Amino acid sequence: MGRPFGVKRGNKKRKEKYDEHIEEGEQEQEEPQPKQLKTDDVSREEEAGNQEKQSEEAEGDVVHQLEGIPLGPVQSQLSKSVGVTFVLERASLEVAKVGKTYQILNSDDHTNFLKRNGRNPADYRPDIVHQALLSILDSPLNKAGKVRAVYVRTGKGVLFEVKPHVRIPRTYKRFAGIMLQLLQKLSITAAGKREKLLRMIKNPVTQYLPVNARKIGFSHSSERLVEMQDYVAAIGDDTPLVFVVGAMAHGKIETEYTDDFISISNYPLSAACCINIICDAVRKHLKFI
Ligand SMILES: C[S@@+](CC[C@H](N)C(=O)[O-])C[C@H]1O[C@@H](n2cnc3c(N)ncnc32)[C@H](O)[C@@H]1O
Repeated sequence: MGRPFGVKRGNKKRKEKYDEHIEEGEQEQEEPQPKQLKTDDVSREEEAGNQEKQSEEAEGDVVHQLEGIPLGPVQSQLSKSVGVTFVLERASLEVAKVGKTYQILNSDDHTNFLKRNGRNPADYRPDIVHQALLSILDSPLNKAGKVRAVYVRTGKGVLFEVKPHVRIPRTYKRFAGIMLQLLQKLSITAAGKREKLLRMIKNPVTQYLPVNARKIGFSHSSERLVEMQDYVAAIGDDTPLVFVVGAMAHGKIETEYTDDFISISNYPLSAACCINIICDAVRKHLKFI
């Protein structure tokens, strides 16, 4: 087996840079600590995107029993159709060693650390992907078994899958702990089960999407303003839907794989609010409450 995930040769310099800029008094969360990790996550994420093989090997070796991520309710068999897919793009999930611990960087707890490393704290918003995931997983659409799959791609291009029946921690601190484990250990398995609830997968995301799917990108800046329910109704029921939503604070998703690029409100929305509108439009189209 290759070297442990995240242990990258030749980036000692960058690690030192992170380490030497730790501020006294920088808030440190008590997140689970990796035992063998030697580098910051910037390099780990870069590696992860290209290391599916290594990932598969590691997955075979390690089964992470995670109490606190129970399975959600068993999904009903409401409809035979395939269900919708969500892709959350540009999620801010970057790990660095802050003080003695590895943490998911966020603008609240790591402002000084980020500034000293030449980063803009406003870009570090992992709470956005947390809220977006909760919106998808909590939706009646998902509870009715109509969410087929959820994929998250980080700003560094690391791709992972979230099973629709997973229960993501509701508090940010616990969510960050799970994300940290996922980025370090490649997959997370339900306590007492073999099924991987979250797992790193190889890019590109398109290989996991239904062949004839309509892939719809969302942005406030799109010139095509639509009423979401009408838009969904206009697409044939046999066409699987893939919704691509940004999980970042600023900017626009840039994806080559979307067929449409639409705006669903005259107002700039949070990713979570945008997802709520999407889920409700599909729910209404499927006519269930
Ligand atoms: C916080 S916003 C990012 C802001 C960004 N300027 C934008 O709207 O593309 C997060 C995501 O929510 C979605 N979003 C926000 N407002 C929207 C709108 N009015 N129509 C469609 N999607 C929207 C987009 O996918 C966006 O990437």
